[in-house]
Amino acid sequence: MADASNPFAAGLPTLDGGRVRLRAVRPADDADLLAVFEDPAHLRYWSHGPLDDLDAARRYREGIEANARDRALFQWAITEPADDRMIGSATLGAWNRQNRRADVGFILRPDRVGRGLASDAVRTLIRFGIDGMDLHRVEADVDPANTGSIRLLERLGFVREGYFRERWFTFGSWKDSAMYGLLAADFDG
Ligand SMILES: CC(C)(COP(=O)(O)OP(=O)(O)OC[C@H]1O[C@@H](n2cnc3c(N)ncnc32)[C@H](O)[C@@H]1OP(=O)(O)O)[C@@H](O)C(=O)NCCC(=O)NCCS
Repeated sequence: MADASNPFAAGLPTLDGGRVRLRAVRPADDADLLAVFEDPAHLRYWSHGPLDDLDAARRYREGIEANARDRALFQWAITEPADDRMIGSATLGAWNRQNRRADVGFILRPDRVGRGLASDAVRTLIRFGIDGMDLHRVEADVDPANTGSIRLLERLGFVREGYFRERWFTFGSWKDSAMYGLLAADFDG
């Protein structure tokens, strides 16, 4: 188990799930990072638009590293252990230590969707959140039309707790948020 007083003392820990690995993003991942974040249709429920090219991927990766240093957002690469190449990304953000909560985010490269890999990644991340970061509660903010994401969250025990209207302005229009929550006591992953 990670040191609960500072689970990031040695950087972003590598986490092994049943089928995927979560590890720090590296410069060598830039092309794979672009493949995860370049398709506008795949990002239609995401909080930002697509990356245009390799240079944008490099800047995005540098932002990931800065966010981890600032403890603003912890973003892991999702890989398959056989080749350890980045096939997606999973995040824990808005970490509130006093109230022991954080929010979760996740995305897979389009050609890896539909195999249960994202569920394995998020389950692994939540297990670390509870055991390593001592979280009491994990939250998720989802576009109500994002049925794949909602299925994943509900499979892991998340419950819909609220509905916020017009919370995001993305792709030229206002988007609502369905707010999901999971209590550590209800997690059996
Ligand atoms: C959200 C997202 C990560 C879900 O990916 P996913 O692969 O569908 O999620 P899971 O890992 O839970 O896989 C579940 C699917 O794999 C199928 N599957 C196949 N083999 C499986 C296995 N061995 N174990 C579990 N599920 C398996 C399931 O039947 C299920 O299919 P279904 O959704 O048609 O019922 C993906 O759609 C995505 O990247 N979307 C874009 C980014 C985004 O919107 N992120 C969420 C923001 S809140």
